[in-house]
Amino acid sequence: MRVRLFAFAVLALAVAAPSLADEPGPGGSKPPVPKTGEEVYRMYCQACHMADAAGASGAGTFPALARNERLGTAAYAIYMVENGKGGMPGFRSALTPVQVADLVTYLRTHFGNEYREPVTAAEVEAMRPH
Ligand code: HEC
Repeated sequence: MRVRLFAFAVLALAVAAPSLADEPGPGGSKPPVPKTGEEVYRMYCQACHMADAAGASGAGTFPALARNERLGTAAYAIYMVENGKGGMPGFRSALTPVQVADLVTYLRTHFGNEYREPVTAAEVEAMRPH
């Protein structure tokens, strides 16, 4: 139950963040817009996949992103972030192609993953419906 509530909070944040970010709020009241891949991970992913990306299981199963060979296929990681699957929401409408590219590049080069080739915003853009 706690995980479900948590997931809902994350979803609400994912939906609310871009629209809020568009509005010029009074000094400093805007939610921070995550700029680096790490910031995006902290804000959108770690609630389910954990700070160390080791995943979790309990009320749901959240796969580990640490030492995850599937991240070797950049397109797979991009697809999951963009579209989600099962218990994971998609983030296409919440994140820009640059944010997704930086996030996936961060994941592929941290948490024991060593896929050095950076993911580009163009790759993400190409996978979005046009
Ligand atoms: C609400 C919880 C939740 C959030 C938030 C979430 N995920 Fe997930 N994620 C999941 C679940 C559940 C799965 C397993 C989906 C399935 O296979 O049915 C998953 C699967 C994945 C996979 C595939 C792993 C594999 O081994 O196949 C990747 C990659 C991934 N998530 C990355 C991310 C990233 C990056 C973010 C942040 C943008 C994120 N997730 C946010 C719950 C979440």
